[in-house]
Amino acid sequence: MSTPPSPSPSYPGVPTLDDLELVRHGLLPRDLVSVPDGPLTLSDAEGVPVVEVSADGELSWLSPRSSRPFERWHLTDTEVELPVALVGDETALAAVPGDTRTLVVLASTDGDDNQRDLDLVRAARATAERSGYALRVAPLGHGTPRRADKVARLQQSLGGPEQVHDLTSATEGSAYPAGRGGVVVLLTGLSGSGKSTIARALRDHLVEEEDRTVSLLDGDVVRRHLSAGLSFSPADRETNIRRIGWVAAEIARHGGTAIASPIAPFESTRQDVRRMVEGRGGRFVLVHVATPLEECERRDRKGLYARARAGEIPDFTGISSPYETPTDATLTLDTTGREVEELVHHILAAIAPPGPTR
Ligand code: ADX
Repeated sequence: MSTPPSPSPSYPGVPTLDDLELVRHGLLPRDLVSVPDGPLTLSDAEGVPVVEVSADGELSWLSPRSSRPFERWHLTDTEVELPVALVGDETALAAVPGDTRTLVVLASTDGDDNQRDLDLVRAARATAERSGYALRVAPLGHGTPRRADKVARLQQSLGGPEQVHDLTSATEGSAYPAGRGGVVVLLTGLSGSGKSTIARALRDHLVEEEDRTVSLLDGDVVRRHLSAGLSFSPADRETNIRRIGWVAAEIARHGGTAIASPIAPFESTRQDVRRMVEGRGGRFVLVHVATPLEECERRDRKGLYARARAGEIPDFTGISSPYETPTDATLTLDTTGREVEELVHHILAAIAPPGPTR
């Protein structure tokens, strides 16, 4: 089959680009890395063509990808001073053998959702400076597909298990202490459930009583600005929520507080938002404003339910479009007959930083 090469390069995501970098330097075998079938050109997130994949899977390197933090520490060949310690977690730094010459830290520092790995490299750098080890970064981040196999191959490439101590498995999967960053409160629920009212009251409290700066990403307001032009089709709702999530996660990455109050009817999109926030080191507090449909419809402050029932508004949540009840809400609040101050206090308790020390 001879298809012409794809005209526009496609972006395979950070984990694949990271793997390809290790292949390029002879640190990983090609067969451990899954790339889409060629012929095609893979680019980095900026659109710089990085590698060409032929129809039979051969790779031809084009240019290096755009820069990322800690790039000048990256492993570029197998020539490292032995013995080596491979570290994939901050807790493993305490177990590095004293005769180590080179600390190889497995971390992906590309993208913005890798706060954990950035923190790991910073900690490894401090350890290396204190103890006199050379530092190298191998971009094998947390959650990389077949990571254990790749670590074993990297160990082999660098000198074998005698000289390359793999400290990754003992601490693999340990929880990343969220909390360095800020917080995202996502209020989800039907139209008219009271999300915006609670969101505004929460914002007011944080601004008045806690001197915080807060970004309020209200559903209707976002649709006038950030998401102007999007419809209420499932695909557009997903885009809308992902935009809100992306902005909110960035706010939290810089230590800020974001309160968002879209309907956000789909479980998988809410999970994406959680991943974005937590991946950037923020805390994600999901509040399900679970006011029943009958009550929302009874209030019908904007008259939308009546119009939806009359068939004038398609894809209306709760009427002609689904709302998937959250399975992982931090808090579930029914606003029926409740005072907004009381509800805000529940949320304040949930967003208070965990533990006495911070
Ligand atoms: S979401 O599904 O993408 O999260 P979002 O919160 O932005 O929805 O917008 C919901 C608001 O848009 C509602 O509060 C309501 O005022 C208005 N709206 C207009 N059409 C619809 C619709 N088909 N379904 C739900 N809300 C709608």
